[in-house]
Amino acid sequence: MSKIKIALFGLGTIGTGVADILLNHQEHIRKVTGRDVSLVKICDKNTSLKRDINIPSGILTDDPDSIFNDSEIKIVIELIGGLEPARTFVLRLLESGKNVVTANKALLAQHGVELFAAARRKNSTIAFEAAVCGGIPILSSIATSLQANTILSINAIVNGTSNFILSQMEDGGASYNDAVKEAQKLGYAEANPAMDVDGTDAVQKLTILAQLGFGATVDWKNVSRMGIESVDAIDFKFAKDLGYRIKLLAVANRGEEGLELHVAPTLVKFDNPLARVRNAFNAVRVVGDYVGPVFFQGLGAGRKPTASAVVGDVIDTVLGRTKITFDTLNLWNNNEQSVPVKRADNFYGKSYLRFDAEDRAGVMRDFAAVFEKNNISIASMIQHEINNTNNNTNKQNAVIILITHEALEGNLLKAIDELEKIPSIQSKIIRMRVQD
Ligand code: HSE
Repeated sequence: MSKIKIALFGLGTIGTGVADILLNHQEHIRKVTGRDVSLVKICDKNTSLKRDINIPSGILTDDPDSIFNDSEIKIVIELIGGLEPARTFVLRLLESGKNVVTANKALLAQHGVELFAAARRKNSTIAFEAAVCGGIPILSSIATSLQANTILSINAIVNGTSNFILSQMEDGGASYNDAVKEAQKLGYAEANPAMDVDGTDAVQKLTILAQLGFGATVDWKNVSRMGIESVDAIDFKFAKDLGYRIKLLAVANRGEEGLELHVAPTLVKFDNPLARVRNAFNAVRVVGDYVGPVFFQGLGAGRKPTASAVVGDVIDTVLGRTKITFDTLNLWNNNEQSVPVKRADNFYGKSYLRFDAEDRAGVMRDFAAVFEKNNISIASMIQHEINNTNNNTNKQNAVIILITHEALEGNLLKAIDELEKIPSIQSKIIRMRVQD
């Protein structure tokens, strides 16, 4: 049986899970590949940290050159995360003809064009199933099984941490900060959890989905993004009264004028299957012109599900399947079939707005005038008295919640700006998208 030597950069949460499968399930991998797949080196800058798996002596090193310079190592897994040194390492590996498996969405979203060009030049491959939605085989499904279709839309919950936080707040009444801490403890969150809650992680994953589903090469920094930091317990209550749950949705919608891409906390109707996705689960609803809607759900974060996707990619690379997909898809190649991406100003949709306003005669007229001026029609509205006084004055406030009819994004942003300048409005305008 021929031997395939592989190496791993990064022995954190996911790296430990990957090493566990490769070291302790060798027989299974031998069976499915027909090769003796052997993890011969693990490189991590911290070699003394105690991990909960047994690593045979001589494998763990802090010297990256022991991997770069070993010409017998053909496949290298990158689980360092972040941009540097991951980018430099992956480029070096590709330059020396090694095949790379990575879970690094930030790296692909930022440097996909450069890395894929390097791989093509050297006839090597990059596999990255674990970069989007952890254990859900969404990338390979879009890349292979759904290929007969023109993809019309992808609506997804792609960040396990924020879904976990929203679920804990909604179901268990947890505070935002406690839910963040718990997500970190369970190993879902990024090294910097701000990237989970501010939508950065979701946007980076969305640009990878846009590349696969629509051939669109997008700078993730230009994608319209809102995070979950401003979502409050009160929003869940009002959303529920109106028949919705709140989810951080990543959306790619192909329309006549191009592709709409955005990430935002979104009110999703109860009967939409995305509304029922709880905790660290991720889900993706893909609509293809022939297949119609297809729904995927699974764990999108954490050690075991993500390691499952990484090792799946290793097996595909051993078997030569990665090479076929890599060559056929020709990703991050600025290909001419790419769908144009719409400017955010031209998006069209419904919104949920919440703000505090003085509770006195004429206030509603003030803000209604702003909506009218910006051609925005209000679909529903709730006002609740707040049981306290404003800034120790005797002014009473009310909280206003409203849902707009479909409106142009540019008009909505102008309206929000104008609303925040009205003296009778006493807070920032909290805004979410609405999907019926
Ligand atoms: N922090 C990410 C999440 C991990 O919560 O989904 C997987 O990319």
